[in-house]
Amino acid sequence: MGDHRISIWSFMGVALLVTCISGEDPYRFYTWNVTYGYIYPLGEKQQGILINGQFPGPQIESVTNDNLIINVFNSLDEPFLISWNGVQQRRNSWQDGVYGTNCPIPPGQNFTYVLQVKDQIGSYFYFPSLGMHKAAGGFGSFKIASRSVIPVPFPPPAGDFTILAGDWFKRNHTDLRAILDGGTDLPFPHGLLINGRGSNGYTFTVDQGKTYRFRISNVGLTTSLNFRIQGHKMLLVEVEGTHTLQNTYDSLDIHLGQSYSVLVTADQPAQDYNIVISTRFTTQVLTTTSILHYSNSAGSVSGPPPGGPTTQIDWSLEQARSLRPLQYSGAFSLGSIPDNPTGGGAYLQTSVMAADFRGYAEIVFENPEETVQSWHIDGHNFFVVGFLKDILHNSDGQDGRWAMDTSSRLSYNLRDTISRCTVQVYPKSWTAVYMPLDNVGMWNVRSENWPRQYLGQQFYLRVFHRQIHGEMNIQSQEMFFFVVGLQVVRLGTYDQHTAGLIDCQEWLT
Ligand SMILES: *[C@@H]1O[C@H](CO)[C@@H](O)[C@H](O)[C@H]1NC(C)=O
Ligand SMILES: *[C@@H]1O[C@H](CO)[C@@H](O)[C@H](O)[C@H]1NC(C)=O
Ligand SMILES: *[C@@H]1O[C@H](CO)[C@@H](O)[C@H](O)[C@H]1NC(C)=O
Repeated sequence: MGDHRISIWSFMGVALLVTCISGEDPYRFYTWNVTYGYIYPLGEKQQGILINGQFPGPQIESVTNDNLIINVFNSLDEPFLISWNGVQQRRNSWQDGVYGTNCPIPPGQNFTYVLQVKDQIGSYFYFPSLGMHKAAGGFGSFKIASRSVIPVPFPPPAGDFTILAGDWFKRNHTDLRAILDGGTDLPFPHGLLINGRGSNGYTFTVDQGKTYRFRISNVGLTTSLNFRIQGHKMLLVEVEGTHTLQNTYDSLDIHLGQSYSVLVTADQPAQDYNIVISTRFTTQVLTTTSILHYSNSAGSVSGPPPGGPTTQIDWSLEQARSLRPLQYSGAFSLGSIPDNPTGGGAYLQTSVMAADFRGYAEIVFENPEETVQSWHIDGHNFFVVGFLKDILHNSDGQDGRWAMDTSSRLSYNLRDTISRCTVQVYPKSWTAVYMPLDNVGMWNVRSENWPRQYLGQQFYLRVFHRQIHGEMNIQSQEMFFFVVGLQVVRLGTYDQHTAGLIDCQEWLT
């Protein structure tokens, strides 16, 4: 233990020195004016929420460690807030843009967000977090590139495309809110949008033979999506800031709030192809398309858009289990973090985590319902260690329950699990994650199903340290259960032998 701690501190010493030498990280300044404006996403005129006149809003292009100064003017007639999905806000939950940690910007006023994208890379998005504003727009893509000195595990692509995909309602956000306030479920969405446009409203132009990066986020309100490109394979390279083992897929499931990056090579005969999204786990299937246009294209799209999976859950579960982090040589894996200090050598690969490391939470999301759910935790990434579907009948006879007395934990993947910030929970199933509690603050935990989030399926996790500079507490582990059905009934902790690391009282009561 002693040796271990010394090496961590000396590593931090080096890190400090480097920071001093390299000076301050760059600043980027933005001024955003949030207004109502007319949009025609499904061919009919609708009142949308625009940022600087745009729907979707402007793209943020940043580099690891950049400071972003974003002055947001609220020109709506309602209070407004923007949140940054997946941006961790290290020790700075007061810029998170959710109701519990940020006061809404009153109509006619402005607020300046000061964010640092500390130690992060990847594909994310921002969105309006109050009311049902997200149903009217106000969202946009948020990219964090690696610094030039950091190698990226694939050659630079010839282009970088963003796909903000999601379901869409023709009713405006005040009407949708009134439906929910009236105690009714939202109706089935009217259609799907890609970058704010309906079918074939958007064209991506590629040069034959070149490889492109597509960053796809599900910014919708209620439905999981499947994404595919006619005639082309996709090489998965990133999931919410984690470079992945590079597997090839014909299609990918993207649940609410999730983001993926794939590489696509334009290696087919020169013509146009369909880029397709369709709804998953819905009885009625909505589909929409965009065009992948070869610059030397000899013709328009031929044939129908390829079909995708619709209601099959096993398929999705298998795919979810196939997502693996890229293992650099000598890279760490979760199982290598001992339950107890071993006194063994330090492992430099985990040093960033270890330097901040105070404790681990094991979180189990249990879904007793018939619909897939998607859950997000602000301020953190977590390791998805297990999913289990429907086969569990516990002593209390309930489906989908994680159980200490059965083999739930035996099915965990502790070797190579993906680290991300938004995870799906299949119907009558549980999803288990391990989360390093390495970011002090008050963090929003929420359903990414927006009607549910609006109706209150969210809470705050307070990650708290009595002594920020106290002992490294590597053996600490907490356990939480979140039952994520319509009534959040069971928030429990288990095996809490490290009182003081997190103060759960505020959000458990
Ligand atoms: C925002 O846009 C509205 C409508 O175009 C305009 O009246 C207002 O002056 C703008 N505000 C800022 C700060 O640019
Ligand atoms: C509002 O905008 C003005 C003008 O850009 C700026 O000087 C001021 O700091 C902003 N106020 C807040 C609270 O961000
Ligand atoms: C939403 O639509 C209703 C009519 O269905 C209208 O009365 C209301 O003003 C609209 N709200 C906004 C913000 O456009």
